[in-house]
Amino acid sequence: MSEPVNISFAKLSAAPKGVLIVLTDESLAFGPIAQKLLNPVDDALTRAFDAERFKGKAFSCVDMLAPAGLQQVPRLVIISVGKADELKAKDFLKLGGVIAGRIPAGAKEATVVAELPGGSLAAEDVAELALGLRLRSYAFDRYKTKKKDEPARESLELHLQVAEEASAEKAWTTREAVGEGVLFARDLVNEPPNVLDPPEFARRAQERLSAVGVEVDVLDEPALAKLNMRALLGVGQGSIKESRVVVMRWNGGKKDEAPLAFIGKGVTFDSGGISIKPGAGMEDMKGDMGGAACVTGTLYALAARKAKVNAIGVIGLVENMPDGAAQRPGDIVTSMSGQTIEIINTDAEGRLVLADVLWYTKETFKPKLMVDLATLTGAIMVALGQEYAGLFSNDDELAEALTAAGASSGEKVWRMPLAPEYDKLIDSKFADMKNTGGRFGGSITAAQFLQRYVDKTPWAHVDIAGTAMASPASDINKSWGAGWGVRLLDRLVAENHEG
Ligand code: BES
Ligand code: MN
Ligand code: ZN
Repeated sequence: MSEPVNISFAKLSAAPKGVLIVLTDESLAFGPIAQKLLNPVDDALTRAFDAERFKGKAFSCVDMLAPAGLQQVPRLVIISVGKADELKAKDFLKLGGVIAGRIPAGAKEATVVAELPGGSLAAEDVAELALGLRLRSYAFDRYKTKKKDEPARESLELHLQVAEEASAEKAWTTREAVGEGVLFARDLVNEPPNVLDPPEFARRAQERLSAVGVEVDVLDEPALAKLNMRALLGVGQGSIKESRVVVMRWNGGKKDEAPLAFIGKGVTFDSGGISIKPGAGMEDMKGDMGGAACVTGTLYALAARKAKVNAIGVIGLVENMPDGAAQRPGDIVTSMSGQTIEIINTDAEGRLVLADVLWYTKETFKPKLMVDLATLTGAIMVALGQEYAGLFSNDDELAEALTAAGASSGEKVWRMPLAPEYDKLIDSKFADMKNTGGRFGGSITAAQFLQRYVDKTPWAHVDIAGTAMASPASDINKSWGAGWGVRLLDRLVAENHEG
């Protein structure tokens, strides 16, 4: 994990250090303090704007090297936010990412003047900007021992000039906790599967989360067998890696209030098992634990920012491999719930893991609601691409809250249907159900399967196969694993469940 930016706050009028970043909007004007700073280069800037045909379009930039008149400044970067009165939290996040992208890799120091023509930025917006900076600056280069073509940033002192240092600092403490949760999740997704197997995932969760006050319990195979988690254990039985379930508890809310429960699919490598996947792209299946990474990162974030909520995270960690002990198509397993499942395809393993983890969570913790996240189906990528995750829910209120949290965080979800008519697609000749539903509606039949393990508990399933891994580069992420969903769940909690 690289943490290449060190963010600190300074007064708006302080002398800038290093690369200087100043904000503007469509008016091409500056805030009063920024204007004073830029007075010596005013004419040059006008000419630079002309030369670049700079109209202040959102997130467009003008760079000026070694500006005469600003002796201490090696580079001046003007960034426009476009229409300043329409900015939302997620725009400040993006702005932070854009800023980080304009600071050259070798720079040791930079200053951002957090002021727009209309005045200084609010503390919350500054914190969101800082979060964007931090997220964009992440690179997973732990295993690169040779010199890189594009050297990663080593350490950058980033000075954010703000109206009130204390309130910005306070807002940042909260957002920084969320950022750490996202970066933790990214690391987990990016790690190779020989390193991050179920026991190692459990160990890291325990180490990082107990340090911020989360109670962490790790259930090993004998404990899982005792609980009758035969569906989950069946997936792991062809691997030499042992399976684990990790239970994480954060008690920041009222003493006896039922918790929110977050459940994650954690297949540390999905070869498909006996129904083995084609070779091309199989390496991507190291990311099949993106749901578990999200849940772990979220519990970290909630604890580190001391969220006023009771929340639990439960993740099912297994490796899906083919060998002489592996599960076969045709096998029938009895899940913890007592319901039996005929295995048609050993590559539809995520739902088997989740069946037991959902049931266990519901029975053990009687949660107020359950949200599971899983890289569950290729079909969701066919339906939604990589911009939206698929949302399935038995509860309209929860579905709407998640949709709203998706809109405000920028981690968007799109609701898909559940309906009893789909159930017949997973009826089995020999058992209570089968683990695949045929070619049509693959994401829906998977969700329909999960629904059989939640009873009446308000529940949502988020299929993140398209968003958690192989992520398209964005302004706030250049890494393969996006750490997707940590900010979504953090917003869900903050907007609905903290008093
Ligand atoms: N982990 C995969 C789904 C997946 C595919 C995630 C691509 C990310 C990218 C899941 O376990 C799987 O193999 N699903 C099968 C289900 C099928 C056998 C019913 C699929 O989607 O093909
Ligand atoms: Mn699979
Ligand atoms: Zn899988």
